[in-house]
Amino acid sequence: MSTTVIVPTYNESPNVAELVRRLGAALPPDGSEILFVDDSSDDTPAAIRASAAWSEVPVRLIHRDAPVGGLSGAVVEGIRASAGDWCVVMDGDLQHPPELVPVLLETGAGTGADVVVASRHVGDGSNAGLSGVGRKVVSNASIALTRAMFPSRLRNCTDPMTGFFALRRAAIEIDTLRPQGFKILLEILARQRLRVVEEPFIFGARFAGESKADFRQGLRFVQQLAALRFGRMSRFGLIGAVGAVANLAIMAGLIAVGVDYLVAAVIAAVITIVGNFFLQEAFVFHDLRAEGRHLAHRFAQSVGFNALEALARLPLLYLIVQFTPIPSVLAQAVTLVVAFIVRYVYHARVVYRPRRTTPISPLLAGAKPVAAALERPSGSAAPAA
Ligand code: GDD
Ligand code: MN
Repeated sequence: MSTTVIVPTYNESPNVAELVRRLGAALPPDGSEILFVDDSSDDTPAAIRASAAWSEVPVRLIHRDAPVGGLSGAVVEGIRASAGDWCVVMDGDLQHPPELVPVLLETGAGTGADVVVASRHVGDGSNAGLSGVGRKVVSNASIALTRAMFPSRLRNCTDPMTGFFALRRAAIEIDTLRPQGFKILLEILARQRLRVVEEPFIFGARFAGESKADFRQGLRFVQQLAALRFGRMSRFGLIGAVGAVANLAIMAGLIAVGVDYLVAAVIAAVITIVGNFFLQEAFVFHDLRAEGRHLAHRFAQSVGFNALEALARLPLLYLIVQFTPIPSVLAQAVTLVVAFIVRYVYHARVVYRPRRTTPISPLLAGAKPVAAALERPSGSAAPAA
């Protein structure tokens, strides 16, 4: 078995030698290579060449003058240029422990998986190295939303945002990928059906330098989600819209025959919530109905949630209008949008949640996860990433 470790780099010169040293200690020199795909404007290429001179594991460098597709584009270029049966993708800043690379490869070989994901959200894995509560919240929320949008393809992947994973080269159809932004694993898993197995790991602190993630990458991520999927979520939205129109029609009809408007509103809500459930079963989650939960169970979960949500929205609206300067119609629009997303995530992640079909860490069940350093090495003056 041969392996190409692909490391995308953008201004990582103080990290290169340490990464090559630790990878060299973890990998057999025969059948392994380290491939840097570099878009740097600093002296990272020189640092890579210097490490190549002493490293026992062969080190290759692709320096791109036109950094098309950013981090994800670099990874795809690395996969194209790889010589190994397996590609391991990892960051160049030592937030991903090099010592886990042989574990990922062993798991891949031992399980027949196409992709082995190093996950921060399985077993004893952790995202301790993410700087600040804000980034953790954003990271966890994006994982929940993404898994809700791709319930089936991501059924065995708890961390589609990770940048650390191994790929069986022959399983990947590279030409289907449209790399943009930071989330290349999501791109790979969403475009094809692949067999995914996971290994826990602890995402550590950067060895040196600063993170390149910024608000622009967040926007890229939203664009990527839109490009990958407007199927299931838009069907869900369409059925919600049909329900809203039906709600008004029923209410108008009942009032016309003399029913009190409040009673009419309640009857309309009950009919649309129940009707919505059956439309959703038929058109949105039809492929996930067979995931083992009984119809009555799904009905109770879905209708219960929608009823509570409908009840909770009014006091929320009241609070926003009372305590913020937001005008009431705008506040209602915001609560409706938030409610839509929460309702969608709940249905995809709870009511129709696909069951895992591959075991977690099958080879090393019970073993401690491999950790990246959580502390910066002493003497490192670099600011926290
Ligand atoms: N070639 C290339 N081109 N590499 C890049 C670019 C680029 O435009 N932008 C960033 N990189 C490299 C960095 O040099 C580093 O090796 C790696 O990609 C990750 O970038 P960081 O700046 O360290 O990002 P992060 O730590 O905030 O993000 C990490 O965590 C995310 C999960 O929260 C990365 O692992 C992401 O891949 C991961 O999604
Ligand atoms: Mn990083």
